[in-house]
Amino acid sequence: MIPLTVPALGAEEIAASERVLRSGMLVQGREVLAFEAALAQSAHRKHAIAVSSGTAALELALRALDLGPGHEVLCPALTWPSPAHAVLGSGATLGLAEVRPDEWNADEHTFAAARTPSTRAAIVIEQFGNPARHAAIAAALPGLPLIVDAACSLGASYQGAPCGSHGIIACTSFHPRKVLTTGEGGACLTDDDGLANRLRALRNHGQSAPGTFVCAAGNQRLTELAGAIGSEQLKKLSALVAARRRLGAQVQSAFPQLSFQRAAPGAEPNLQTLGLLVGPEGEGSATRDRLIVRLREGGVQSGALSYALHLLPQFEQAAHAAAGAGRSLSHARDIAERGLALPLFPGMTEQQVGTLVEQLGKALAS
Ligand SMILES: Cc1ncc(COP(=O)(O)O)c(C=O)c1O
Repeated sequence: MIPLTVPALGAEEIAASERVLRSGMLVQGREVLAFEAALAQSAHRKHAIAVSSGTAALELALRALDLGPGHEVLCPALTWPSPAHAVLGSGATLGLAEVRPDEWNADEHTFAAARTPSTRAAIVIEQFGNPARHAAIAAALPGLPLIVDAACSLGASYQGAPCGSHGIIACTSFHPRKVLTTGEGGACLTDDDGLANRLRALRNHGQSAPGTFVCAAGNQRLTELAGAIGSEQLKKLSALVAARRRLGAQVQSAFPQLSFQRAAPGAEPNLQTLGLLVGPEGEGSATRDRLIVRLREGGVQSGALSYALHLLPQFEQAAHAAAGAGRSLSHARDIAERGLALPLFPGMTEQQVGTLVEQLGKALAS
């Protein structure tokens, strides 16, 4: 079976892990500091604050910005639910924004349409590593802090600027489905010294220095093992992204008639997920689900792409508010129903790409 993904871990990551294990120093220390410095540099940021997951990065970003009860935070309606869970967990109100049918991200128009007098921030998602239209979104939401969910987009760029460099805080993830992995892990990226200090205290029991508590907070630190692996992964980031782009382009060019995710002008995606929409619009998920079964029979793992948040029970209130304001969120629904994720990973062989193309062709024809 060709799996959806295989993390690109090699001898360097194994050697780095062994070095940490032999050192006996396992909790956040020198390795995490070195990883943070390299990450900040690669994302053109002043600060990187490594944390235990991409979800933790979002939760801490919302808290660092004092977002909570009485505030509304906007989030695109198509996503893995983490950013929206972080909003509800903070006590803030969730506002759902529609996504574009071609790029699968919210844009300046859909964010502006979702803004209300209570809106205090927006989470801009770079879905599957497809850069958002940052300049236009910032111009359409004057005065609004933008948290960028760059969980999937490290190694991608928009108008020449690396993803992770946009927004007051960008949050990224190092989960094994992502382009750069440390097992579990994530980071907040920012240029703001005050926010960086808050984030560092918030991830470490509220301490600004050992034993000096400035607030009540939990523990979302990254381990030294993860830090050491992250530094090795970061050295390979551009090669990992180049391999994804090369392999992804081979699959895409074999099916010019299919609806793969499109990039905005000036956007260079990293192809964190190779996704496409299948079946007729409005039909629901029947064709997509049939294709998943056929591909599995042909030795290829595939899966549903993402979630339409307004269809999930935990977001009923936000769904109701969006419907009441006349926002149908039909594109998010359509992409969630018709979206198919195909295998793509840097170590994929030419033979595996050939099998994927052959089996997808067969499954589509049958
Ligand atoms: C857009 C988005 N945000 C946040 C996350 C959460 O990252 P993590 O799994 O590291 O908590 C994910 C994970 O899939 C994601 O896709």
